[in-house]
Amino acid sequence: MNHNHPFPEHVQFVLFGAMGDLAWRLIGPALFNLHLDGQLPSGFSLIGVDRDVSADALRERLRDGVERFSRRGAPDGEAWTAFAARLGACSIDLGDVGHYQQLKSQLSGDGATADAQIFYLAIPPSLFGAVADGLAHVGLHRERSRARIVVEKPLGDSLAAFQAIDRTLRAHFHENQIYRMDHFLGKETVQNILALRFANPIFEPVWNRRYIDHVTVTVAEDIGVGHRAGYYEHAGALRDMVQNHLLQLMCLVAMEAPVAYDADDIRNKKLDVLRACRPIPADNVTAFAVRGQYAAGWLEGEHVPGYREEPGIDARSNTETYAAIKLLVDNWRWQDVPFYLRTGKRMTAAVSEISIRFRDVPHNAFPAATGLNAQPVRLVIQIQPEEGIILKFMAKEPGNPLRLGPVDMRFSYQEAFGKSSPGAYETLLRDLMLADATLFMRADQVEAAWGLLMPVVDAWAANPAPDFPNYPAGSWGPEAAERLIARDGRAWLTPSQLAGKKNE
Ligand code: BG6
Repeated sequence: MNHNHPFPEHVQFVLFGAMGDLAWRLIGPALFNLHLDGQLPSGFSLIGVDRDVSADALRERLRDGVERFSRRGAPDGEAWTAFAARLGACSIDLGDVGHYQQLKSQLSGDGATADAQIFYLAIPPSLFGAVADGLAHVGLHRERSRARIVVEKPLGDSLAAFQAIDRTLRAHFHENQIYRMDHFLGKETVQNILALRFANPIFEPVWNRRYIDHVTVTVAEDIGVGHRAGYYEHAGALRDMVQNHLLQLMCLVAMEAPVAYDADDIRNKKLDVLRACRPIPADNVTAFAVRGQYAAGWLEGEHVPGYREEPGIDARSNTETYAAIKLLVDNWRWQDVPFYLRTGKRMTAAVSEISIRFRDVPHNAFPAATGLNAQPVRLVIQIQPEEGIILKFMAKEPGNPLRLGPVDMRFSYQEAFGKSSPGAYETLLRDLMLADATLFMRADQVEAAWGLLMPVVDAWAANPAPDFPNYPAGSWGPEAAERLIARDGRAWLTPSQLAGKKNE
């Protein structure tokens, strides 16, 4: 997030799995955009590491990724040539510690001393240990202020598995050298939650159980499993989205004010939220968690297959493509204010938003007939694709007799700032070079998130869902999710971006 960290001059970015999917789709385009924006250090170089990679093959692969996935589209020839000149390659067998000397020699080859050496593990977690061992074998882990290791989810599929992965990293690297990505934290709209809450005095007084009835977090996707069957079949929505992205969003809404804008202070405050979450009782998981799997259905006029019919998916798969959970935060601020989190694939539309629902007025002085369309007061934080904040409240309609009607007060990033937001990876990669860990996950946070969800993970694994598939593609998820919230006398509301445009 770049506050007062000095920008390093000489950065060596070592990309493990350079020919892989993540490098191609996300890391390459993000680095190239930083290059275009003049945000890469003058002495930036990238070494792509893979089993069989040449500098030319790497350049071609990354260029293809930029063409397909960059928010700016195909690269301009000259700009690309300048970027490509910063790319080199190193072919080694990641599992063989004997090979790491070659990498080390290549890193010291350009004569300059790097301010930062970033080892980015865009590889399956099963290889994390081997790479950490290999780097340590040749001493590349040693300088704490220089060497950083970056990992992405899946960070295990359970608490125990996460702890095992973490041990392999911590065998050689200190916690503050380890950067765990959660790309949602790099989104502008997500970072802005802190600005909204703590750069303005007007929200804090009402940001508590006295004024807030409940909070919902929706991260809906219209895409299906796509080409990720191998990973997703084992992960499912709870591990893929709730364990990380949704819990992080909730933490940002629920955390106490930090003392300073400082990585550890902010992460401590977020961790406190997870620590305060009431444990989900293992013998009553169904009262707090609902799972779903999409059947065939219609999306934007197109017929799409069910999850079990997708390529690479088991025809009797028990993997959930939708998850909803209810959490209670046992502390002074939030006692008895439920947080409902839901996410799913193949839902009606791609839309992510947080809705903070305020309590009703304690006494309604207006005659009932004046407010026929009454809406509850809500603050809606639009995460994507619309980026903004909406305050929904009641106002007097012009004229007589007296009538009240629902209105919106809107802030839109696009209108207010007139420029497009950087991609999440761009922000996070830049922070990485600046050694700013604010937007990265600390081990204890990941651990607490796993700890919270393990009763659900275990219950779902032990009891295959009898009703899968249980929601049609193009819907808002299974009926049981409506019941989860309806039991408390509440409802999921149509995301503001769609309200009035589409029916639920
Ligand atoms: C990833 C999940 O972390 O986030 C994907 O693995 C999901 O399943 C993606 O599609 C959503 O991210 P974004 O930034 O596209 O909303």
